[in-house]
Amino acid sequence: MRQKITNYIRAGYSGLYLVSAEEQRVEAELKAIADQLEFNLYVWSTTSGLIGVSKPSSRECNDPLEALITFNELPEKTICVLRDFHLFLADPNPILIRQLKDVLQDAKTKNKTIIVLGCRLCLPPELEREFTVLEFALPNKEQLSRVIDGIIESAELKPLEDDVRDSVLDAASGLTTMEAENAFALSVVEKRHLSPALIAKEKAQAVKKNGLLEIVEAKESLESIGGLDLLKDWLVQRKGAFSKKAAEYGLPTPKGVLILGIPGTGKSLTAKAVASVFDVPLLKLDAGRIFAGLVGQSEANLRSVIQTAEAIAPAVLWIDELEKGFAGSKSSGATDGGTSARVFGSFISWMQEKKSPVFVVATANDVSQLPPEMLRKGRFDEMFFVDLPSQSEREAIWGIQIAKYRRDPKEFDCVQLARATDGFTGSEIESAFIDSLYLAFGNEKEPTDLVIARVLNDYVPLSKLKAEQIGSLRNWSQGRARPGTSPEQNERKLRKLAA
Ligand SMILES: Nc1ncnc2c1ncn2[C@@H]1O[C@H](COP(=O)(O)OP(=O)(O)OP(=O)(O)O)[C@@H](O)[C@H]1O
Ligand SMILES: [Mg+2]
Repeated sequence: MRQKITNYIRAGYSGLYLVSAEEQRVEAELKAIADQLEFNLYVWSTTSGLIGVSKPSSRECNDPLEALITFNELPEKTICVLRDFHLFLADPNPILIRQLKDVLQDAKTKNKTIIVLGCRLCLPPELEREFTVLEFALPNKEQLSRVIDGIIESAELKPLEDDVRDSVLDAASGLTTMEAENAFALSVVEKRHLSPALIAKEKAQAVKKNGLLEIVEAKESLESIGGLDLLKDWLVQRKGAFSKKAAEYGLPTPKGVLILGIPGTGKSLTAKAVASVFDVPLLKLDAGRIFAGLVGQSEANLRSVIQTAEAIAPAVLWIDELEKGFAGSKSSGATDGGTSARVFGSFISWMQEKKSPVFVVATANDVSQLPPEMLRKGRFDEMFFVDLPSQSEREAIWGIQIAKYRRDPKEFDCVQLARATDGFTGSEIESAFIDSLYLAFGNEKEPTDLVIARVLNDYVPLSKLKAEQIGSLRNWSQGRARPGTSPEQNERKLRKLAA
């Protein structure tokens, strides 16, 4: 990053826009650059005016317009950081815009650079061409390691063993320097040492703050999923894909998987299990919230999600109900000035080009809502279709659900229960069992096959109500997506073959 900014300044770029929530770290970096280039560094804020950093000085020009005029008077070879200036650009006044353009024009000939520093991108169209936008990446492990050294020294802690240091670094990656410092300090106050678990918890809180990403503690493993043998095999095969060994072997990092299918068939469940297969953190993205109100905000949201995911990587990025987030992108031009289409485009190109070990698991019910580009080969490593569970799959699901609610599956006839629930999804089997528990509890008894049979009598599965929709999804997926279940496990197909 330092090299890149240095090059821009040396090449005479007069307007840079650095997006970062870490003022201190960015300014320290800029100070180093200014020193190296022998430039003067000034920092402006509306509260303290224009302060000279390289040669201490101070001018009272708290108004942004005044600041620009003062900048114009500064000598050649000057870098000036404008803190929070983006806030004046959110609803800009025409005079400020004109002044900024004039100043940038003039600066170009004099080796002067204005750097707008803000936590988000906010540029009116009039200035889009005047500024080069740079996303200041979150601190990498090396930088976080220095923060650890700092805290060890100041809190007089014992030096860390290598493996402990690694887990502390894993726990802290994805945090800003300041957030990491805070988390480390809290850990020292509460535990007298650096506790990866506590730091990870603080990170979960920090990541959640913008409402886009959430670190999910998933307890689900492949054993929690009944059936879906092909999907599971595929995942297990990629188990070690993020390891050093895999990289040395030359395996390309997997991009991700798209799981399509009928509601309640275990798509979200599988997504959660993926993180435990890979043994990496699970990040859940609320795709609907990417599209926030302000102009430019959606793009910034997506960038911040990608940045955090890449900093935490290796990680699984789970996008549940993909169609809800990206539905707008099909007809977007007409409705939102193309924002959804643009954001969607950036997402797709990130998927395509990403080198970082972020495995995307996307789930969707309604493919007709999804833009066709999303489904094209090469976006995801594989697309799976999850159908209604077969007889043997339902047997497995009954067993799993009964055990989940602390009853012994051996006390039940899972084969018969599976026969009685032909056309049920896994989620419906679960809810039928919960109903049975309630019924038995009301009668102060334990649930039995008989109690379940009574509940099933009144139960109409979704597949009966929505037969047509399910049929069309099934048709669509044929030849396009791989089935999650092998033919051997799927008697419906076997019956068809026999006929
Ligand atoms: N194959 C399965 N094995 C075990 N449990 C299952 C299975 N499928 C569904 N379930 C149960 O149903 C619950 C709901 O399933 P899940 O949320 O994964 O469905 P989904 O496919 O994501 O549905 P939707 O499309 O509505 O989001 C799960 O938490 C699990 O308890
Ligand atoms: Mg789901």
